[in-house]
Amino acid sequence: MTEHKERYDRIFDLIERHDNWMSNTINLIASENVSSPAVRSATVCDFRDRYAEGWPGERVYAGCKYIDEVELICIDLAKKLYKADFVDVRPISGVVANLMMYTAAMKPLDRMMALAIAHGGHISHARQSLGGTAGAVRGHKVRTWDFDEEEFNIDVDASKKQIRRLFEDGNEVKFLLFGASVFPFPHPVKEFTDIADEYDMTIGYDSAHVSGLIASGRFQDPLREGADIVTASTHKTLPGPQHGMVLAKEEWADKIKRAAFPGLMSNHHLHNVAGLAVVLAEMMEYGEDFTDQILKNAKALAQALHDKGFQVVAEHKGFTESHVVLVDVADTPMKNGRKVEEELEKANIIINRNLLPWDKKMGRDYRKPGGIRLGSSEVTRLGLKEGEMEDVADFLYRVVMKEEDVKKVAEEVSEYRKEYQKVHYAFDTETPAYEHLRFK
Ligand SMILES: Cc1ncc(COP(=O)(O)O)c(C=O)c1O
Repeated sequence: MTEHKERYDRIFDLIERHDNWMSNTINLIASENVSSPAVRSATVCDFRDRYAEGWPGERVYAGCKYIDEVELICIDLAKKLYKADFVDVRPISGVVANLMMYTAAMKPLDRMMALAIAHGGHISHARQSLGGTAGAVRGHKVRTWDFDEEEFNIDVDASKKQIRRLFEDGNEVKFLLFGASVFPFPHPVKEFTDIADEYDMTIGYDSAHVSGLIASGRFQDPLREGADIVTASTHKTLPGPQHGMVLAKEEWADKIKRAAFPGLMSNHHLHNVAGLAVVLAEMMEYGEDFTDQILKNAKALAQALHDKGFQVVAEHKGFTESHVVLVDVADTPMKNGRKVEEELEKANIIINRNLLPWDKKMGRDYRKPGGIRLGSSEVTRLGLKEGEMEDVADFLYRVVMKEEDVKKVAEEVSEYRKEYQKVHYAFDTETPAYEHLRFK
């Protein structure tokens, strides 16, 4: 066998092992989900090998008649689901959707407000010195929202004062960005519409994490609350393929379209547009039940962890109103989020370490932060309910608090997962969620 053939075979072996491992784990990564067999099926079509630059019906490429129809269905479903005047389904990810939004709403170097990373902000919102997309790619000057750690939310009064001071000092702000990667509570969008009107600032909202919840009317409704442009990832609480969307008021349509093409993309991963169309149809039918259960599960998981002695953030606010649960693990025997992440992975439980707002004061940074972030989306898709969240919390307790043998817990997790192998809340649910599909 040649060295190349060996590596070729090795690639398929690794993919299969990964798929098999996933079917044996409890995945609590808040930014992930598991898509249905139907979404997977749509994304392996020939669209993957084609181009369709431009807007459906006005393409720069030939051969697009079926692709156009799928993209138009996708746009139509998204417009209905989000009650949006305009939707562009071309961004190939949430970060690219954000770049489209920045390009449509601001000139390079313009100043914007966004959430700091330690407060849950995403790197695509961040300044140049951090290598953040807004600063490093577009040159935007980023000022961060004042944050109320108790409320775990943007401090409206302090942030408005900050914006007024900036204008008084001649430092114009052009854009207010809401949305986060740690997003347990809705952001105060409507509270800023008056100041946005007063100073002619555009309001943007990154719904990457909560786009599935918003689609079902189970979180805030940024377009109705005053956001001009809303971006999304399509694979977090919305269980679609990895892709993005931009939703907006009609007056932004031309600028957003030009930002997509010719601005930021040549091909826009047409197979994923097909997968996105499928998940949007699934969410039309099953979205409300799915998101209701995501929310119940997040609260149940938070409560069960709290009952077992974990410091779950924002207890006085009921822990969370989304899929996300943030836990301060600095006082556990493992002392930091990195150690917890590593040990849980050995026990077949996949989570993220996460910075906490107070980490910096405590001398901690992103390498060994004080927190972990958990999400209820994937386990919900697999059919787990509130009762099962107590089982999940117990597995975490045994690894993190009791420091039980991780190999033993891994075996038990694997056994536990045997009952939950199919996706729920979908038209077709027979193919196992993580089954490796071979075409060769
Ligand atoms: C708030 C937020 N915006 C954007 C993104 C990036 O999305 P994508 O990975 O689709 O580019 C993420 C990813 O987790 C996110 O949390």
